[in-house]
Amino acid sequence: MVLMAKLVCHSRLLLLIIVFLSLHPSSQLQQHTQSQTLLKIQQLLNYPSALTSFSHRSNIRDFCKIEPTPSLTLSCYEGNITQLHIIGNNGFPPLPRDFSADYFFATLVGLPSLKVLSLVSLGLWGPMPASIGHLSSLEILNVSTNYLSGTVPLQLSYLRNLQTLILDHNKFTGQVPGWLSSLPVLAVLSLKNNMLNGSLPYSLASLQTLRVLCLSSNFLSGEVPDLRNLTNLQVLDLEDNYFGPHFPSWSHLC
Ligand SMILES: *[C@@H]1O[C@H](CO)[C@@H](O)[C@H](O)[C@H]1NC(C)=O
Ligand SMILES: *[C@@H]1O[C@H](CO)[C@@H](O)[C@H](O)[C@H]1NC(C)=O
Ligand SMILES: *[C@@H]1O[C@H](CO)[C@@H](O)[C@H](O)[C@H]1NC(C)=O
Ligand SMILES: *[C@@H]1O[C@H](CO)[C@@H](O)[C@H](O)[C@H]1NC(C)=O
Repeated sequence: MVLMAKLVCHSRLLLLIIVFLSLHPSSQLQQHTQSQTLLKIQQLLNYPSALTSFSHRSNIRDFCKIEPTPSLTLSCYEGNITQLHIIGNNGFPPLPRDFSADYFFATLVGLPSLKVLSLVSLGLWGPMPASIGHLSSLEILNVSTNYLSGTVPLQLSYLRNLQTLILDHNKFTGQVPGWLSSLPVLAVLSLKNNMLNGSLPYSLASLQTLRVLCLSSNFLSGEVPDLRNLTNLQVLDLEDNYFGPHFPSWSHLC
């Protein structure tokens, strides 16, 4: 009888343990993956001062509780990281030669709930890789003031929730891509201070959601499309390019 009770008791405990394990593993695994991803980011960025708080184990375990600073903000929703802002010092030199933008952006896929991502003045260099297209929750991307080069990758067009795209102060080349007009909710497009050339795609004129368009300080040329149908447009900055000789009239903007 006693033995029976013990067995029952044991099996209850076992049941409890099984129930506990089956309730928690995915969220704990998710927490663990995100912690590991943050540590990897710190390493790949060559331990920038913005991320010194990651060096405390308790911070990395409870990353959602890290106090925001001007150089680091991390926001969570129910344990998942939704916002990550890492801001380095202006004039930060390029990361060492062994930095791989491919590997770095592929690592960010370990934060699948990321909606807002700022990676500013961190010395990122190299082409922006195709894996950026896997960050499918992204709504705001700001990678200004780095050394990113190559063309604006097509895979950004997979980010169907993208509202704000800021690639200012980098070394992007090639044209302003026509597929930007396929982004259904794009409101802010800023590609200032790059090395973009060629003429603007006419499809820009159909980006109904656009509020801000900043393309200043590039090598853009040719006719500017008639943007009069962009009724939400509030800011248009095309300065310091080679546009012309004719400009459409934008009387509605004034
Ligand atoms: C957190 O992320 C995991 C893995 O992506 C997902 O299954 C879960 O639904 C997310 N939770 C919330 C509250 O968004
Ligand atoms: C991008 O982020 C940096 C750092 O937070 C900020 O200073 C800059 O204004 C942002 N760019 C835009 C266009 O909002
Ligand atoms: C744009 O620059 C590239 C080199 O980056 C050059 O090959 C191409 O001819 C240029 N296109 C125009 C239209 O100037
Ligand atoms: C503006 O929109 C109207 C109605 O959709 C269209 O007929 C016209 O061609 C558009 N104009 C330009 C310059 O895109």
